[in-house]
Amino acid sequence: MTSITITRPDDWHLHLRDNAQMHDVVQCSARQFARAIVMPNLNPPVVTTNMAKAYRARILAALPGSMQSSFGPLMTLYLTDDTPPAEVICAKESGVVHAVKLYPAGATTNSAAGVTDIRKCYNTLEAMQQIDMPFLVHGEVTDPDIDVFDREHVFIERVLFPLTQRFPKLRIVFEHVTTQDAVTFVQESSQQIAASITAHHLLLNRNALFQGGIRPHHYCLPIIKREKHRAALTAAATSGNPKFFLGTDSAPHLQSNKENACGCAGIFTAHAAIELYAEAFDQVGALDKLEAFASFHGADFYQLPRNHEKITLHKQSWKVPDQFSFAGEALIPFRAGESLAWKMA
Ligand code: DOR
Ligand code: ZN
Repeated sequence: MTSITITRPDDWHLHLRDNAQMHDVVQCSARQFARAIVMPNLNPPVVTTNMAKAYRARILAALPGSMQSSFGPLMTLYLTDDTPPAEVICAKESGVVHAVKLYPAGATTNSAAGVTDIRKCYNTLEAMQQIDMPFLVHGEVTDPDIDVFDREHVFIERVLFPLTQRFPKLRIVFEHVTTQDAVTFVQESSQQIAASITAHHLLLNRNALFQGGIRPHHYCLPIIKREKHRAALTAAATSGNPKFFLGTDSAPHLQSNKENACGCAGIFTAHAAIELYAEAFDQVGALDKLEAFASFHGADFYQLPRNHEKITLHKQSWKVPDQFSFAGEALIPFRAGESLAWKMA
């Protein structure tokens, strides 16, 4: 196959940052995707409906006029120990907020205000279950005694499985799954449980962290796992199972914060998101499964209409820029300076 036309995709997990940083990256996503679920881990985090509305207005204002009508930011709230049930009810009624995000405190970037103990949120989760507000989960325990590579697996046992038992009607997205264990858990759970999968977790295994030296631009959370997990993610993404859908987790950081003695977690993929997924699907001869994964399954799970517009990808080699400008500094994109096989027309 040398070209493929699919329904315009959506990104069901995206970090857009704010202000000058956001101005420099938002068009990358708006060029490819019709909609994106926008993560709330700003500093300070987006904890109220009013903050989400104001953030949405800033995102739209950062886009050129033509893109303001073609790109829809779908907002999320950042769950804290103290988020009142009334806040998620207000969020649902706003029509602007489409989900509530769990960051276990200390799990990742800007998670300090996250949840210290999920039991503190039971009342709010009960309300979310009642009003059918999706719950997006960063699925890692933060216990320093647990090996970094096992944190997703242990989260399933200690937190996620019990949560699905307690709130069987709550719609949950297990975000950016990275292990065979997570894939199996989602497959075997009820229809209420789905998962997003990033392009970089489909394309890399953990050797990529240490290729000839330490590779900070391949560091993200949850961390990239061994090959058998990458293969399980690819099998899930290309299986046609509607529980699995596209979520880039594109997470830009300043070059100076990545190439650092204590580098930040996050990989920027928005410059070539759909091309990277096309490459991953093409590698296993599954391009015919790309459209449903990228453009149908997420919309269906979020109970939003599917897009109608089409995009076309050509098998045509192109070179990723070495860097992008990012709030006056540099941002190093995934595959910087390397060739990609697919290009969106
Ligand atoms: O790698 C990551 N980067 N994982 C996350 O969970 C957060 C994200 C970020 O905001 O940089
Ligand atoms: Zn994320």
